Amino acid sequence: MGDPVKSLTGKYLRGELKIKGPEDRRAVGNDTPKLKIKGAYEHNLKNLNVEIPLRRFVCLTGVSGSGKSTLMHRVLRQAIVNKMFRLDKPVSCKSITGTEYLDNLITINQGSIGRTSRSNPATYTKAFDHIRDLFAATPEARIRGFKLGRFSFNVPGGRCENCEGKGVLEIEMHFLPSVEVICEVCKGKRFNHETLQVYFKEKNIADVLAMTVEEAEVFFRDIPMIYDKLKMLNEVGLDYLTLGQSATTLSGGEAQRIKLSRELAKHGTTKTLYLLDEPTTGLHYDDVRKLVAVLQRLVSQGNTVLVIEHNLDVIKCADWVIDLGPEGGDKGGELVADGTPEEVARKGGSFTGHYLKRVLN
Ligand SMILES: Nc1ncnc2c1ncn2[C@@H]1O[C@H](COP(=O)(O)OP(=O)(O)OP(=O)(O)O)[C@@H](O)[C@H]1O
Ligand SMILES: [Mg+2]
Ligand SMILES: [Zn+2]
Repeated sequence: MGDPVKSLTGKYLRGELKIKGPEDRRAVGNDTPKLKIKGAYEHNLKNLNVEIPLRRFVCLTGVSGSGKSTLMHRVLRQAIVNKMFRLDKPVSCKSITGTEYLDNLITINQGSIGRTSRSNPATYTKAFDHIRDLFAATPEARIRGFKLGRFSFNVPGGRCENCEGKGVLEIEMHFLPSVEVICEVCKGKRFNHETLQVYFKEKNIADVLAMTVEEAEVFFRDIPMIYDKLKMLNEVGLDYLTLGQSATTLSGGEAQRIKLSRELAKHGTTKTLYLLDEPTTGLHYDDVRKLVAVLQRLVSQGNTVLVIEHNLDVIKCADWVIDLGPEGGDKGGELVADGTPEEVARKGGSFTGHYLKRVLN
């Protein structure tokens, strides 16, 4: 029997784990390190005291307007940033302890990973740096004297200059949003004719960018620097994207998972606190499952994940739930319940607990 936490993640990734029971939880005890916030008072928060267990998957719940985002962004994030960077900014709580257990804070939202068409899954995960290395090292590139920059669409040299490596041209339309047309010189391939004469395993750089993550994983299976990054994209359920798909065309959920895959590929980050505010908005059930698997994986590595969620399928998977309320606005801002999902489900007076009870049974 291996590490129970690791095998738990495996079950999620294989899609076997439909529902969690108490036996699947990472326990929270007296010896668990915690972030302790005392006397938070921003917006509707009423002298709120909360303890966030670290190295766990924690859900922050409560009806709309109960104070979740305020607690996460205004109080917690500001307080941690202040402590980490020794800033002297005002904080909306009396005290916060436990920040010494953290060395990094990352907020993951559904915003695009980079608004330019120059950013794509390959560049964002840095797999493209290694792919360009490979092409520059081919005998053909050496004979022609092509260096790394030759295989970039960001700088002149190897790219198509008609479209400046974008593969498309933007046409301004009066009174209408501008439209993109495929570049007639490179036919959307983004590189010039000479660059495309260089092949690695019978594929040129444009062919590689046109590959899906799944195809590329097979193609680069012997090159760990590239393969590992592709594997992470696959594990977050993005096997169908092409390496060159422009970041501007990715959905919110896809952009979010690309960010997470990059986090997963970073080895050695174990004291990071990840903050996610309603990450499942707009996601399909199966995508929610994939997201939870990735979050569990980050926690398995020793990180802390704090998620604001309304989705019961996510909440029921948490190691720990912090429920704010009891209602929205002035009638909220208090701690209603905290504990494992089972414990919160048993407590009266919590809307979350009431609905949680149904999905746990
Ligand atoms: N800038 C602000 N100034 C004054 N009041 C605010 C401000 N931002 C939020 N509030 C109020 O604070 C309360 C808590 O808001 P918050 O955004 O934290 O709720 P929430 O729990 O995140 O809700 P939701 O689930 O709808 O996102 C609400 O009553 C809201 O109207
Ligand atoms: Mg909110
Ligand atoms: Zn072109």
